[in-house]
Amino acid sequence: MGGRIPQSFIDDLMARADIVDVINARVPLKKKGREYGACCPFHNEKTPSFTVSESKQFYHCFGCGAHGTAIGFLMEYEHLDFVDAVETLAAEYQMEVPREQSPNQAVIVKDHKQALYEMLEQASSLYQQQLRRSDRAVQYLKQRGLSGEIAKKYRLGYAPKGWNFLLDKLGTKLDDISSLKTTGMVVEKSTQKRYDRFRDRIMFPILDRRGRTIAFGGRIIDEGEPKYLNSPDTPVFHKGNELYGFYEARQAVRKLERIIVVEGYMDVVALAQNGIEYAVASLGTATTKEQIQQLFRTVNEIIFCFDGDQAGYKAAWRALEHTLPLVRDGLEAKFLFLPTGEDPDSQVRKEGKQAFQSRLENAVPLSEFLFERLRKEIDIHTMDGKARFANKAKPLLKMLQDGVFSDLMYQRLAQLIGVGVDKLKDKQAIAEIEQPKQQPSAASRHHQQIKQNATRDAIALLLQYPELAIEVELPETFANSALQGFPLLAELQYTAKASPQITSSALLERWRNKKDFEILQKLMQRKIYGTEDKARRVKVFSDAIKSLIAKYNDARFEQLESKLKQGKLNNAELEEYKSLLTR
Ligand code: UTP
Ligand code: MN
Repeated sequence: MGGRIPQSFIDDLMARADIVDVINARVPLKKKGREYGACCPFHNEKTPSFTVSESKQFYHCFGCGAHGTAIGFLMEYEHLDFVDAVETLAAEYQMEVPREQSPNQAVIVKDHKQALYEMLEQASSLYQQQLRRSDRAVQYLKQRGLSGEIAKKYRLGYAPKGWNFLLDKLGTKLDDISSLKTTGMVVEKSTQKRYDRFRDRIMFPILDRRGRTIAFGGRIIDEGEPKYLNSPDTPVFHKGNELYGFYEARQAVRKLERIIVVEGYMDVVALAQNGIEYAVASLGTATTKEQIQQLFRTVNEIIFCFDGDQAGYKAAWRALEHTLPLVRDGLEAKFLFLPTGEDPDSQVRKEGKQAFQSRLENAVPLSEFLFERLRKEIDIHTMDGKARFANKAKPLLKMLQDGVFSDLMYQRLAQLIGVGVDKLKDKQAIAEIEQPKQQPSAASRHHQQIKQNATRDAIALLLQYPELAIEVELPETFANSALQGFPLLAELQYTAKASPQITSSALLERWRNKKDFEILQKLMQRKIYGTEDKARRVKVFSDAIKSLIAKYNDARFEQLESKLKQGKLNNAELEEYKSLLTR
């Protein structure tokens, strides 16, 4: 095995598989009109906003915005990487996944990742073994209040002193040395000079959602810098996507209802030691949107727990900003601020489980935190203060998804400043307050929008109906145009033309590792009117292309004209200019 999966196989697979069957086997679907629907498996909801289109072979949720092809669905729903998802899908259709024998290293090779996981697992076992053998490390954990049981549950370990412990134990073959480097366990200065990254540290293995060890954090035992050393990002570890302790929490609590987000490894472990087994840490960075999204897929309530100091407040505000677009009705985010100088570890050890739990019960709801903080900054007893307060609050409230919660937030704001809700929710009014003057006039904005829409429509149409590629010619110049979307349109056309049988979802899959993938996923959902039958689609598409050609010519004309004024036109360009002029 190993080697790249041929593109033609992905094309065949997308043509053969039916997304309705694939999803229906996991999330029972109901037919509604031309599409299928269900309650979204990616967020909590009571009324279905998850839809699956058989003709596009694409799913989309109006509630949370989740979307993708059958492969994308399996990646999301079963937490698979691309290769695993392709293999799962292929197996369901009794298709064998072929591999290209290619010397190219920059390809997705499953076996390669497998070797990394195995290497990390072995390192973790060795560290756990070493912990049992080191009095000093054991003493340290004891002195921090941790039992052997908890150390075992979190697979805590010890990386011994010396530069070559892992290298000697695991780096006997060249392939293994390479894995040690790729996983960041070994640092290489030159082939002569390699050494273990983690030395004389307490080791916290970071597990992914499937319980595989993907990275480590290591704490120094005595004083020293840096206090914590972490694995770098690697092919199996992307810091912003992972949460320390999430796997362990899901193992410990059968039906997780809420999660506490804390800052440190020790906070997670100390809370578990004290019977609060559902804390996770965000790995030394601010909590990312991806992390919050993952948590909301599992629980309805997140409590962010921060130190009561300035830094804690700042971190909490950033968490709030990342959370706003993700809260929906039924989901709840709260904030718990600890007394100055305390962190969850010290606090729970000081006062025990009961007291800490009652803090959790009294955590501040997101709405209160938001308004209270703005009130501290702005005096709302003056007219001017009220206006400033509204202007600060509105961009935040605008991030909310429509729903009962959003309505309540607007009501609360209206109440606080004594204005009618209707006035607040007027989107136009909000836009004008926020960006006075610099905005282009309404007419030119409208004009620009139509032009942009023509590009988007053309791309969307071609993506949704790849057979249009052979119907309409595109000028070659589009491929190198600086105009937004033109090169993408050209490449799409080229790709679809080169594979006349390609399906819409297969065409989309070709872009999975390219920068425009997300844009195309969005355009897959775009509805273009008047495209029911083929003849009309061809007409709409060729009209769109015509208007793009005009747009291209306009831009080109302006460019040449300014060159002409500077006396920089060569003969060919002069000819082009003249022909554009007589157009
Ligand atoms: P803290 O400095 O708050 O440490 O860092 P802590 O969790 O209270 O640790 P103890 O109690 O002193 O052992 C919080 C988190 O920030 C990251 C780590 O993830 C840590 O758990 N951090 C901190 C680093 O990555 N590197 C550092 O040098 C310090
Ligand atoms: Mn601490």
